[in-house]
Amino acid sequence: MTWRASVLTLFPAMFPGPLGHSLAGRARETGAWSLDVTNIRDFAADRHRTVDDTPFGGGAGMVLRPDIVDAAVASVGDGRPVICLAPRGRRFTQADARRFASGPGVILLCGRYEGIDQRVIEARGMQEISIGDYVLSGGELAALVLLDSMVRLLPGVMGSSDSAGEESFSAGLLEYPHYTRPAEWQGRRVPDVLLSGHHAAVAAWRRAESEKVTRERRPDLRAAVALPERAV
Ligand SMILES: C[S@@+](CC[C@H](N)C(=O)[O-])C[C@H]1O[C@@H](n2cnc3c(N)ncnc32)[C@H](O)[C@@H]1O
Repeated sequence: MTWRASVLTLFPAMFPGPLGHSLAGRARETGAWSLDVTNIRDFAADRHRTVDDTPFGGGAGMVLRPDIVDAAVASVGDGRPVICLAPRGRRFTQADARRFASGPGVILLCGRYEGIDQRVIEARGMQEISIGDYVLSGGELAALVLLDSMVRLLPGVMGSSDSAGEESFSAGLLEYPHYTRPAEWQGRRVPDVLLSGHHAAVAAWRRAESEKVTRERRPDLRAAVALPERAV
């Protein structure tokens, strides 16, 4: 069965956006995944097509109404996980991308204004997910980020299945640095070991570089914490 992504948004024209190009775009054309986009405003009941209202308790901004969001979710709901993009959500990781990519697909709810009435998030058992500690104007860019990370992991989408296994975060480590021709550029030489043709030595060097950069830049990654200091 085709992996299916459904996006609920007030700005449907923002999709597929970048996902219409390159790897994801080609994979969609060949049927590796499908995308349907629903305009939340289509579920508004009044003639002004109102989807939001003022927050109870006062404060700035507007909140998306639970009844309208619920009807939009119901129109595509079929047991797939429903993700609500939210800065207050759990931070998205590569492990999440793998988990969602191995399922039937996802439903992504893009917030706007101050956000979405909490009752519909709870009633629909949504997973609140954030892409980082900053605030965007809407969930659309966050949805595109999540989808890109998932789609590239679908079977047959990436050229070499090895690529995903060695990438940053796959084994709890950041990736080693890459080099290509020319072997010397502006006085900077590629590390000799990479030109040696010695596969075991290359693998050991890459592992050591991964451990080093992870310790330096992301000591919070679990594997990095467990790594002993060692000379590279
Ligand atoms: C202006 S934001 C609302 C911010 C909200 N009042 C808060 O302080 O947490 C509007 C919408 O953008 C999306 N959004 C903003 N930042 C995000 C992030 N870091 N990750 C995921 N979604 C985000 C959410 O869907 C959110 O409902």
